[in-house]
This record gives sequence, structure tokens and C-alpha cells, in this order.
Amino acid sequence: MSARTKLDLDATAERCTALGLLHTADALPELVEEASRENLSPLGFFHRVLEREIERKTERRVATSLKLSGLPTGKTLEGFDWTFQPRADRTKLERLATCAFVRARENVLFLGPPGVGKSHLAVSLGVKAVKNGFSVTHFVLDDLMHALRADAAIPPARLKAKRYLNSALLIVDEVSFRPLDRHEANLFFRLISARYEKGSVVLTANKHVRDWPEIFAGDEILTTAILDRLLHHVHLVHIDGRSYRLRELDGLLQPPAAATSPPPQRGGEITKS
Ligand SMILES: Nc1ncnc2c1ncn2[C@@H]1O[C@H](COP(=O)(O)OP(=O)(O)OP(=O)(O)O)[C@@H](O)[C@H]1O
Ligand SMILES: [Mg+2]
Repeated sequence: MSARTKLDLDATAERCTALGLLHTADALPELVEEASRENLSPLGFFHRVLEREIERKTERRVATSLKLSGLPTGKTLEGFDWTFQPRADRTKLERLATCAFVRARENVLFLGPPGVGKSHLAVSLGVKAVKNGFSVTHFVLDDLMHALRADAAIPPARLKAKRYLNSALLIVDEVSFRPLDRHEANLFFRLISARYEKGSVVLTANKHVRDWPEIFAGDEILTTAILDRLLHHVHLVHIDGRSYRLRELDGLLQPPAAATSPPPQRGGEITKS
């Protein structure tokens, strides 16, 4: 590269930096090289530069938002084994993954026994929402309660800055793992009430909603008020299947008679079913 070209590149890179085109500023020599190798027209080159800049900006935005969201890593819709869990409604999940429910400020409730993929799928919806440009906050209930208790004395006007209130999507995982005391149940109600029709909530629980009073300090009235708001605009995803965690043990956990032996016989007669 001639000294003259180097000077021109440096001056152009400086202007790119001034305009906030940080990737272009960094990669200018390669972009120019690529354009001459591929014989790009001036318009083709300009288009390529803008396209790459947008790609990198999006990657950076997604990486930062994922970090801020508190979403665990590695749980994606693409990584979900649908053949292992045939009763998970793939069509419904794929529709939810378009994030129309976030746009419409609707909720999603995942119910089902342990290990069937509720948290995995809830997180994967969060990842899709981040990629679609929505703000997302993920909590397991215990951590959320910790934050809500710490903020209990903050006046409502100042609470607006809290991510659990102002994110487009709040994911609360493991809602039924431990019962809340009355103070916590009230704080949870305050949160659900504040987000009602303002922002989406995704919840996972392995207790049926009819047993939710046990979670919320045994208070039927408060639980009804929480459920009323949560379920008004809700997509229910009920997964009733085997635990993925225990998939290696499936053979071991089945009683050997049921797994391998023929049906029991009485007095030499084959019993009919
Ligand atoms: N169908 C699946 N394909 C791939 N991985 C799965 C599948 N189902 C579950 N997993 C994985 O198995 C583990 C348990 O799943 P997950 O935590 O989502 O279960 P859960 O329904 O939330 O259970 P719990 O009620 O105990 O919280 C996770 O590591 C998850 O990524
Ligand atoms: Mg879970």
C-alpha cells in the first residue's frame, strides 16, 4: 500500500469514527481490498459498507442486551429437541417466537412437571425478543423477590426506572418452587398489577394454577387478583412429558416388570385386558 493510499484510508477512517461507523473505521482497508477484488461498483461498495456496519451494530446491540437481560446462555429454540418432547406444542412456540405477544403486551404461562423444558423455552423466547429489539429482564422468583423486597420502600414514581417494571418482557422462572410470605405475595401482586397491559410477562411454574394460593401465602383473594391480571391476555403452554434431566435414567426408573416382562398370568390362564 502506498503512503498516499494509507493517508487517504486513515483520513476516511477518522471521518467514519466521527460518524459513529466504528466497524467501517476498523475494517476499511479490508473493505476496500474486498471491493477491488470483487470489482464492486461505487454503489455496490457503499451498499456493502452500510450492510456490514448494520450487521455489526446489531450484533453489538444483541450482545449488550443479552448481558443486561440476565438471561442464562445456551438455551435457544433451535437447541430444543422436539422429538424428545413430542407433546410440546412446537407450532405455538414458533408463533410465540415471532414476538407478536410482546408487541401486544400479552403474557405466556409455562406449566408442567420438572425437567420438561419450561425454563429452556421461556429463556429461548427471551432470546428471540432481544433479537427482535425488545428489552428483556429475566429473574428466577427468589432473586426477583430479593429485588422487590429491597425496593419495597421506593415510591412508585421512582420505581419506573427498574428493569423489572420497564422491560418490554419480564421472565419470572420457577414461580412455584417456594411459598411466598404475605409481604412478598403483596409485592408480587404490585408488580403484576403495574405491568398489566403495559408489558409482557412470561412465567414458568410446575404447580397448576388451582394450587397457586399455596404459593401466595394461602391468600385466595390475592391469588385470584394476580391470576386475573396474568391470565387476561395469556398464551398457555402446558408441557406434559418426561424429564429431559432424567432421560438417561428412563430405563432405570421404570419398574422392570412393566419394562420387560409379559403380563402376569393367573393359574396358567392368560389374563385378558
Ligand atoms: N427437549 C429438550 N431439548 C433439549 N434440552 C432440553 C429439553 N428439555 C429440557 N432440556 C434441558 O434440560 C434441562 C432441564 O430443563 P428445564 O430447566 O427447562 O426444565 P423445567 O421444565 O424448567 O424444570 P423445573 O420445573 O424443574 O424447573 C435444561 O438444561 C434444558 O436446557
Ligand atoms: Mg425450570
